[in-house]
Amino acid sequence: MAEDLQIIPGAKAEQYEALLPQIKALITGEPDLTANLANIAAALKEQFGWLWVGFYLVKDGELVLGPFQGPVACTRIRKGRGVCGAAWERAETLVVPDVEAFPGHIACSSLSRSEIVVPVFRDNEVAGVLDVDSTDLNTFDETDKRFLEEIVSWIFIS
Ligand code: SME
Repeated sequence: MAEDLQIIPGAKAEQYEALLPQIKALITGEPDLTANLANIAAALKEQFGWLWVGFYLVKDGELVLGPFQGPVACTRIRKGRGVCGAAWERAETLVVPDVEAFPGHIACSSLSRSEIVVPVFRDNEVAGVLDVDSTDLNTFDETDKRFLEEIVSWIFIS
């Protein structure tokens, strides 16, 4: 079966509308978490071309680097640290228009200018986060929050 992603031009919401069913098809019926996280990261990176797209998973009280696309990154992040640790602690999505204005931001890449971190829930607990970094300021907004939250809601029910 061909797995080529159909890359769609247009407004951000239109790109997500076209991408979501493709991501759903990639992960539906596949129980392996690593495989699904890897394909979600790859699909988002391929469609949007962001600097870094990937997952950190809660393991033994820390966030540990999981499947990602982009430059090498920090391996472990403690609760409350950086944007990822803050999103975990608060159990809510954080949209950061300018990473330099976020106290405690962890600069895995000097090229990152803005960021969104979306918690991944399992049984009402944060099991990990989806982290996306952009080389531009102000890349992420409510549209990204809405669609990325929908995508991650499928992870533990696929
Ligand atoms: N910037 C993140 C760290 C992870 S990297 O961006 C991949 C943070 O502040 O938590």
